[in-house]
Amino acid sequence: MNARTTRTLAAALSLTAALALSGCSGDSEPKIAVSGAFMPQPVSDKMAGAFMVIKNNAETADKLTGATSPLSDDLQVHETKDQKMQQVQSMDVPANGELRLERGGNHIMLMGLKSTPKVGDKVTVELRFEKAGPVKVELDVKERTYNAQNSKAH
Ligand code: CU
Repeated sequence: MNARTTRTLAAALSLTAALALSGCSGDSEPKIAVSGAFMPQPVSDKMAGAFMVIKNNAETADKLTGATSPLSDDLQVHETKDQKMQQVQSMDVPANGELRLERGGNHIMLMGLKSTPKVGDKVTVELRFEKAGPVKVELDVKERTYNAQNSKAH
């Protein structure tokens, strides 16, 4: 490929990118909706799990990239594989789909709690996404054995 072809291609590509960008800017607000958010009452102040269903009503896929909370300075996105949790950098939230954070599966983990919430308390968590703006969620603190009613039946 000679230099001229490369330049023409680059120009064509950047034009496409510009068009795509201006097409996006007309889009309305991020369309992330969270339901059924809860935290089982933590056993100690060492850690706690956060569970919810994150629905993406947009035409484009997004990613959950992290979270913050007044309760902890270290929130991690965890997946469960072979009954072991491991931290991941991000988790997909499919276009017109949902990401389920549920017991025994994917979840958000709060490490080193500043206090130990009890049943009936609320915990605020702010979710971070790759595309959508931050989303604030209020978690209900539930009994340790609680499972969300909208979880898949087993
Ligand atoms: Cu975990």
